[in-house]
Amino acid sequence: MWKIPLSNVSFDRKESEAVQNVLSSGWLTMGEVTKDFETRFSRYIGTEHAFAVSSCTSALHLAALALDIGEGDEVVCPSLTFVAAPNSVLYTGAKPVFADITSRTILNISPEDIEKKITAKTKAIQIMHYAGIPCDMESITGLAKKHGLFVIEDCAHSPGAEYKGKKCGALGDIGCFSFFSNKNMTTGEGGMITTNNGTIAKKIQSLRSHGMTSLTLDRHKGHAYSYDVTALGFNYRLDEIHSALGIVQLEKLRENNERRRILTAKYRQVLSKILELSMISCDKFSVSSSHILPVLLPKETDRAQFMEYMKQHGIQTSIHYPPAHLFDFYRRMYGHKEGMLSITEDVSKREVTLPLYPSMDEDDVHLVCSAICDYFIRK
Ligand SMILES: Cc1ncc(COP(=O)(O)O)c(C=O)c1O
Repeated sequence: MWKIPLSNVSFDRKESEAVQNVLSSGWLTMGEVTKDFETRFSRYIGTEHAFAVSSCTSALHLAALALDIGEGDEVVCPSLTFVAAPNSVLYTGAKPVFADITSRTILNISPEDIEKKITAKTKAIQIMHYAGIPCDMESITGLAKKHGLFVIEDCAHSPGAEYKGKKCGALGDIGCFSFFSNKNMTTGEGGMITTNNGTIAKKIQSLRSHGMTSLTLDRHKGHAYSYDVTALGFNYRLDEIHSALGIVQLEKLRENNERRRILTAKYRQVLSKILELSMISCDKFSVSSSHILPVLLPKETDRAQFMEYMKQHGIQTSIHYPPAHLFDFYRRMYGHKEGMLSITEDVSKREVTLPLYPSMDEDDVHLVCSAICDYFIRK
């Protein structure tokens, strides 16, 4: 349907073979392939532990539980994110307290506003590296230290992104990754949770699989006959098929991220001539994973009309994100009203995400940019 879709998976024979090998092995549920995926992922991110899970949503939920976040606690988090993130706080009975983003050119959570939102009830700061551009982690971890708080990194946009030489997911207490189909590496559905803290790792490992003391694979191999249950856990496991896909996708991540960065630079070069648009960029301490390509339209531009124009030209666009604090559910739950987070709300109204995926070529970028150019010339 689309001449240029918003995103696209980059699978080839390698993924098919990896999946076929699992099917031929006859062992499908979490086992040696998942372990291998976890080992490779933790080595890549630079953390001691990594646990494969069914989604980033389950990773975020486990992260909050592993930090003993619950009833009566507060977690400061962004609103310019996917709703799964604040929801994961609510799952535990704690309250997500929304903080604004830094500016119209830095769409990550503002350390200054985080500090304003910290109360005696705050237990953690949940941050998200928007579009793959790392947050100001020095300020955020500094605040966490000052106030005795944990930091949960939502790395759904940022596998492979770096801040001062360290990978996102190794910068806070826990990192949470998504392998949903539009992400930089995908297994269809899936996620990963990373940490350097051994105590937190033990909790995550247990809660991921019903709080059980032995795994199905242990019993299959005769390493265990029974099990005890030590906590109220979940089935948040990833299976061998998804893990096999993940191993191949991880191998391709470096190259795919590089391709995304090249395409982003091309967009920047061409779009800089269209004065109406503004783009975000990385600071000199960071390497972006270039997950998405957001642009801000001028205040007076009718965004729906612009997106319809792009659609008529076969170009898919999207919005990242409607602000979470103003969803009907959150309004009813906490009485939120417009005006609470002025920069987030303004950006949410003006942001449009343009197509970006590794198999795009420069002609595709030119096609998108010339459609945008034509739109503004016609205006
Ligand atoms: C920023 C962010 N956080 C969390 C999630 C949830 O990820 P998943 O679909 O793997 O649960 C997403 C997914 O789109 C996301 O973009």
